[in-house]
Amino acid sequence: MQNGNGKIINIGLLGCGNVGTEFVRLLSQNRDMIYDKTGMNVDIKKILVKDKKKKRGVPESLVTNNPDEILDDKKIDLVVELIGGTDKAKEYVLRAIDAGKHIVTANKALIAAHGKTLISMANNHKRRISFEASVCAGIPIIRSLRESLASDRIDFICGIVNGTCNYILTQMGSYNLTFQEALKKAIENGFCEPDPALDITGKDSAQKLAILATLAFGSSIETSSIYTEGIDHMQQDDIRITSRLGFKIKHVAIAKRHQNGIELRVNPVLLDKKNILSNVDNEFNAVIVSGAATGDLIFTGKGAGPMPTSAAVLSDVIEIAKETGEGKRSNFNGVKWSNPDLIKIDDTENSFYLRIPIYDRPGAIGSITTILGENGVSISRADAELIPDKVNYGNVCLLTHRCVESRIKSAIKEIFNLQFLRGIPTLIRIGYH
Ligand SMILES: NC(=O)c1ccc[n+]([C@@H]2O[C@H](COP(=O)([O-])OP(=O)(O)OC[C@H]3O[C@@H](n4cnc5c(N)ncnc54)[C@H](OP(=O)(O)O)[C@@H]3O)[C@@H](O)[C@H]2O)c1
Repeated sequence: MQNGNGKIINIGLLGCGNVGTEFVRLLSQNRDMIYDKTGMNVDIKKILVKDKKKKRGVPESLVTNNPDEILDDKKIDLVVELIGGTDKAKEYVLRAIDAGKHIVTANKALIAAHGKTLISMANNHKRRISFEASVCAGIPIIRSLRESLASDRIDFICGIVNGTCNYILTQMGSYNLTFQEALKKAIENGFCEPDPALDITGKDSAQKLAILATLAFGSSIETSSIYTEGIDHMQQDDIRITSRLGFKIKHVAIAKRHQNGIELRVNPVLLDKKNILSNVDNEFNAVIVSGAATGDLIFTGKGAGPMPTSAAVLSDVIEIAKETGEGKRSNFNGVKWSNPDLIKIDDTENSFYLRIPIYDRPGAIGSITTILGENGVSISRADAELIPDKVNYGNVCLLTHRCVESRIKSAIKEIFNLQFLRGIPTLIRIGYH
C-alpha cells in the first residue's frame, strides 16, 4: 500500500544476516512513520545474500544471489550495505555510487579503510554515503559530531567503543575470572564474534577511532597510524591489585588535540572507580566528547546488536529520504584529507601503574626505585605483596607521577636485567587526560 502521492525510494539491500534481517523487520514495522517524517514511501526492492536457500523470515521473492539485480537496476535509488568486510563490500559500493545510488552502511572496516575514496566518489556523483551504525551502533555519535557539534572545536574524545573488551574486563573484575575464562563466557553469551581477534587486539576500536577522529579533527586519520594495544595480555593479578588501589581497568580509544599535533591511542587504562567511564560495564559503550565551547558530553548505550544497529541504519535511510533529490551532503564533507602531525606514543605523558613480578630478595624494592629515579620517573605510591602458597614469590606495585612514556620504558629495559625478576612487568597508563 502506497501512502500519499506515492513518491517512492527503492532500496537494494546487500546482506541479510543478523543486522539485515532486523533492518527488513524494522522498516516494514515503521513504514507509515517513515512516510510521516519524510513524505516518501521507502520500499525494499531486492535483497542480496550468498545462500538463497537459508530461511531468514523475509519475503523470498525479494531474495537474490546476483548482485547485478541490485547494482544494475535503475529503479533502485539507495543501497544499504550490510555484508561486511572490505572486498565485495567495497566493489559493490563503488559500483552502486557509479550507478548514481546513495549508500548507507554499518561497515566500520570499509569506512576506516576506504572512506576517503568512497566519499570523494560519492561527492563527485552528488550522492550521499552515511555510516552512523559503523561506530557504537545505536549511539548517535557520528551525527552528533557532524551536526550538533559542527559549531565547536573538538579537543578530546575518549570512548569505550568495543563491547567485547568491556564485557571481558568487567567479568574478570566482578568474578575473578582469568582472561581466557572471561573470553569463553563472552563467546557463550553472544558478546563476541566466533573469531575474537579483531576485538581483543584493539583493532576494532582503532577502526572506530579512525572514523571518529577524522570527523572530529577534519584530517585524514589512518587506522595504521593509531597506537593500538589490546587486552589479550591482561592478567587477573593486575585487575585484583588495581582494584585494591581504587581503580578499574577499562579499554579505551583516545583522540586528543595538542598544540603541536594529535595524540591517538587505543589501550587499557586505569580509571578511578568514581570515574564516569568506570561504571560503564559489560557490553555497554560510552564516548566522552569535549568541545572547546561545549565542554564534556557523554554518550552511552548498547554499542552492538542487530536492533540498535539496524535502528541507526534506518535513521540514515530516513535522512536521505528527507532530502532526496538534493544529494549534496556527506558525513565527511569538510574533511581536508591533509596529513596531520601525529604524536608518537613514546612522547606522550601519563602517570602509570607498574607491577613487577619478583622473587623476594633483600633490597629488591630499592634497586627498582633507584632505576626509576635515575630515569626521571618519580613514584607516588608503592605497594608490595608476597603471593600466598608460593615461597618467595612477590609483586612490587608502583604508581608514578606523570612522566614521558619513553622514560618509564627505558627504566623497564633496565629492570629486565635484574636477577630477581620473576616475569614480565605490567605497565598500564592511568586515566586518559
Ligand atoms: N552484528 C552487529 O551487532 C553489528 C554492529 C555494528 C555493525 N555491524 C556491521 O554490520 C555489517 C553486517 O553485520 P552482520 O552481523 O549482520 O553480519 P552477518 O550476520 O554475517 O550477515 C552478512 C550477510 O551478508 C551476506 N553476504 C556476505 N558476503 C556476501 C557476498 N559476497 N555476496 C552476497 N551476500 C553476502 C550473508 O549472506 P548469507 O546469509 O547467505 O550467508 C549475510 O546475509 C558488518 O559490516 C558489521 O561490522 C554489525
